[in-house]
Amino acid sequence: MDTHIAYSFPDVAPPTHPLGQILGVRGSEARVALPAPALLEQSRATVGAFLCISAGPRRLIAMITEVESIEPSQPGARGFGAVARVDLMGEIVLDARDVASFARGVSVYPAIGDPADIIGPDELRLIYANTGEPSISIGSLHHDDTIEARVSLDNMLTKHFAILGSTGVGKSSGVSVILNEILDARPKLRIFLVDGHNEFGRCFGGRANVINAFNLKLPFWLFKFEEFVDVLYGGHASLDEELDILAEHIPIAKGMYLLHRIAQDRNSVRRVDPRRAGYTVDTPVPYVLQDLINLIDERMGKLENRATRMHYHRLLARIETLRSDARFGFMFENANVGGDTMGEILTHLFRLEPNGQPMTVMQVAGLPAEVVDAVVCVVCRLAFDFGLWSDGAMPMLFVCEEAHRFAPADKTAGFGPTRRALLRIAKEGRKYGVYLGLVTQRPAELDPTIISQCNTLFAMRMANDRDQSLLRSAVADEVANLLAFVPSLGTREVVAFGEGLPLPARLTFKALPADRVPRSETFEHSDFDAGQGQERAFVKLVVERWRAASGGPRSITDEPTAAEIEAPLRMNPVPGFDRAEAQTGPTHDRPEPDVSSRALPTSAFSRIEQIRAQMLRRGRTSNA
Ligand SMILES: Nc1ncnc2c1ncn2[C@@H]1O[C@H](COP(=O)(O)OP(=O)(O)O)[C@@H](O)[C@H]1O
Ligand SMILES: [Mg+2]
Repeated sequence: MDTHIAYSFPDVAPPTHPLGQILGVRGSEARVALPAPALLEQSRATVGAFLCISAGPRRLIAMITEVESIEPSQPGARGFGAVARVDLMGEIVLDARDVASFARGVSVYPAIGDPADIIGPDELRLIYANTGEPSISIGSLHHDDTIEARVSLDNMLTKHFAILGSTGVGKSSGVSVILNEILDARPKLRIFLVDGHNEFGRCFGGRANVINAFNLKLPFWLFKFEEFVDVLYGGHASLDEELDILAEHIPIAKGMYLLHRIAQDRNSVRRVDPRRAGYTVDTPVPYVLQDLINLIDERMGKLENRATRMHYHRLLARIETLRSDARFGFMFENANVGGDTMGEILTHLFRLEPNGQPMTVMQVAGLPAEVVDAVVCVVCRLAFDFGLWSDGAMPMLFVCEEAHRFAPADKTAGFGPTRRALLRIAKEGRKYGVYLGLVTQRPAELDPTIISQCNTLFAMRMANDRDQSLLRSAVADEVANLLAFVPSLGTREVVAFGEGLPLPARLTFKALPADRVPRSETFEHSDFDAGQGQERAFVKLVVERWRAASGGPRSITDEPTAAEIEAPLRMNPVPGFDRAEAQTGPTHDRPEPDVSSRALPTSAFSRIEQIRAQMLRRGRTSNA
């Protein structure tokens, strides 16, 4: 598509009756004399309106920031009734072939007496619709709804964006508009959406893989120490004595896992001391939870001091409780099946082999509330680290709804590591091809450093004063004038500004077809009106969610489980992940058989126990 329109000056020569005239210029600010009453709605010269000033062969675009009436009888008023202060924001330039385009900033200044007029549709189209860069169309201009509003993809993505506004004003729908457009324009960009209310499952046609509480698989060993601890203590304060025990034994359990692998490889002659395998608590390599439990248990058995033993005892009880809690199945069930599955998990989470689905919608609403922060932290960190270690080879957009919850301004609230993970993407993500899109209904409660890194902002209706003043403080003065509209914007209406747009704009997001509007899909009431037996499936789903949220078993009858009802959403094995793993996994190249004690035949189990005992003995002697 040719993004330039032929635009030669004779066609849009300054009107014969210009609205106003330049009275004075100071830096990038000018004063324009205007007639007092404006007759037509489109030509009302109000604050926030754009003027087009003919400065010799150039057309300068300016925004009105202040209007004041003057006495027509005043000397120099020459029949004008008002004076407007304007900011010069950009200019329309012609290239060698007389093709016009808009550029930010001005290279010349207007002179006294230059004619000024309300901007016309041709100029608006040139600025907002024919940006000349790869862009997506997100809606239409408020000034003139026949003109598309386009945002520059590269600027919006690489410098992060945020959508801000009260509940119900159309933020989530805006996300659907933007992401659907990006999916069309950039089919290779991976998109990861954290869906706090499980409402995006159907918004992207078949292009998104939906991960939910039933099919999420995030083995405990992928959690960093602080993340694991957060889950272990349900977000409450942890006990230092117990943390010390954990921190001491997790690296050994990791070393033991390495040993299992070496033991399985008959050709290997290497012998490794699990204590000296070089792993830290945070090295993302697998270990077997039972190993950790055994190690702690064994140590406990050697302790004399009753109080110290108590810490071991409590810690073990905590781990056991967590492991047997069905709600945490996503971390512990089959966590060691397939061996080192890190590559497989990354491939699946981040659609590294998209198979027509370059996007992941991660629905967190069904997860136990106290782990949501840790889970979001893990995926956010993995997204960044994958970008880092792959040198940004596979660019990814990480979109997070309810961002104030994960990165609250109040440093004592929320889970610190999640804030840091988001902050890391916000600050450094662009270097590694990891981009951020944030959505929040409480901008004032979102970490200000993170907001300040979002260089394209979509401000929707906001009633709260704190939110509005935060927004105003974040922007240049001329934009602050546009923000005056924010409390009165309608649904779908946005004041958009920043790097992604040539100039700030008041626009309306596209109307989405019904099937792309985000809505909670767990209970689609209409589905249950007609069908026989559907009601039972519905009730079953309700009971199951209820139990899952309160820690009961997922299903105790032989009726189909909700997981089966949602079968198409289930995680499929990812074939041929070896390649991806070879790049990301530590030192091994082949998936391994299950080494968890539960799944092993007794003979193999006792063999491993022998090796473990040997290893522990050796570890102890070498430590002594
Ligand atoms: N772009 C849009 N296209 C169609 N309907 C919309 C659009 N924006 C908002 N709506 C309507 O407004 C309702 C609320 O929008 P939503 O995006 O859920 O708001 P928010 O996320 O800000 O709470 C939607 O359910 C839908 O009916
Ligand atoms: Mg929403």
